[in-house]
Amino acid sequence: MKVLVVGSGGREHALCLALSRDPTVGSLACAPGNAGTAELAETFALDVNDPVAVAALAERVRADLTVIGPEAPLVAGAADELRRRRLPVFGPSAAAAQIEGSKAFAKSVMNAAGVPTADGRDHTVVEAALADLDEFGPPYVVKVDGLAAGKGVTVTGDRDAAVAAVRAALPTEGSRVVIEGYLAGPEVSLFAVVDEAGQVEPLVPAQDFKRIGDGDTGPNTGGMGAYTPLPWAPPDLVDTVLSTVVGPTVTELGHRGTPYSGLLYVGLALTATGPKVIEFNARFGDPETQSVLARLRSPLTRLLAAEPAEWSDEAAVTVVVAAAGYPAQPRLGDEIGGLAQAAAVPGVTVLHAGTKRDAAGRVVSSGGRVLGITATGTDLAAARAAAYEAVDQIRLPGAQFRTDIAAWAATPGAASSSP
Ligand code: AMP
Ligand code: GLY
Repeated sequence: MKVLVVGSGGREHALCLALSRDPTVGSLACAPGNAGTAELAETFALDVNDPVAVAALAERVRADLTVIGPEAPLVAGAADELRRRRLPVFGPSAAAAQIEGSKAFAKSVMNAAGVPTADGRDHTVVEAALADLDEFGPPYVVKVDGLAAGKGVTVTGDRDAAVAAVRAALPTEGSRVVIEGYLAGPEVSLFAVVDEAGQVEPLVPAQDFKRIGDGDTGPNTGGMGAYTPLPWAPPDLVDTVLSTVVGPTVTELGHRGTPYSGLLYVGLALTATGPKVIEFNARFGDPETQSVLARLRSPLTRLLAAEPAEWSDEAAVTVVVAAAGYPAQPRLGDEIGGLAQAAAVPGVTVLHAGTKRDAAGRVVSSGGRVLGITATGTDLAAARAAAYEAVDQIRLPGAQFRTDIAAWAATPGAASSSP
């Protein structure tokens, strides 16, 4: 069959790679793609935020399945437009994607379904929001109600910074902010495929590193690295999250007349009183997908149909190489060297994110997160060593990467304690 992947990040390169290894996939297209997906898939220009353009491309290339990578086209209704034209699509409707698109909607679904999450309330009025800040107390958690590419959340112990975040989140009438309690505990990203019949198939859990700097310092980013498995996580974690979070959420969305199908991303904090939801996303996570799919041993199209998947026991570590100035103002257009040397390190796959070929055919940076170096190994220590050996081969002026991805989890003590 022919599969069209919509998007241009590291996640989409990982999806294309897994699909290229799927024996049922005869040909691949990717739009708009990057210099990495272009090696695997026919590339098309596309405004991903235009649902009609997405559906028209799927028709034009005669896609038997369209997989939508990013959240923006989902929230804009790309999956609805494809379904309207009876074109098979992986991804939720715009209404169901509000689980990511609106923090207030997500809270309301969780509260109705009894899903464990932080207490929180949404506000449209500054004074009421500030009163709530003081009721919850520090650390303060302030969330802009809308898509913000991972930058809409302020978590701070500084009341002045929290107040500034509230004011910035409510610039005009009609804007909303969510104030919620702080969840203490290590974070986990767990993905589950939900099909149109409500069948659920979990993927293996991963951990993401959201801050730009080592030791979780500096501003939040889209994600600077990820690893799987989680030696420190309780063995029943996946079952617990399926029964306390995924099942009730899917049921509640069905009751509301907005059934979910596609990838449900559950972002969790493992608190002293069990896993609690920090956020939902309506799509695969980036860079977690790069690590998770490195362990997939069965065809991706079968997993996308919520059929049981097979996973290797290997570990996978992804280290993101970001442009100078990321996340505030990434510098673009720099030539990227050392790609072949990095890919030659045993166990390593170089996944492109913000890359493109310039007129001279050179691979240059075109986005904030430029590459993800994914390595597999017999354990996290081996995968981590290979990933960093490959990162050292990359030449990109001013490149930023974290040196502590999976560092703690790779230590022998990690299996018997908690981060
Ligand atoms: P989000 O955009 O909702 O993923 O939030 C970004 C990051 O902010 C999360 O990965 C957490 O590290 C942090 N965060 C969000 N909500 C909370 C919370 N209630 N308690 C603690 N940390 C949070
Ligand atoms: N890595 C976090 C996300 O995809 O939202």
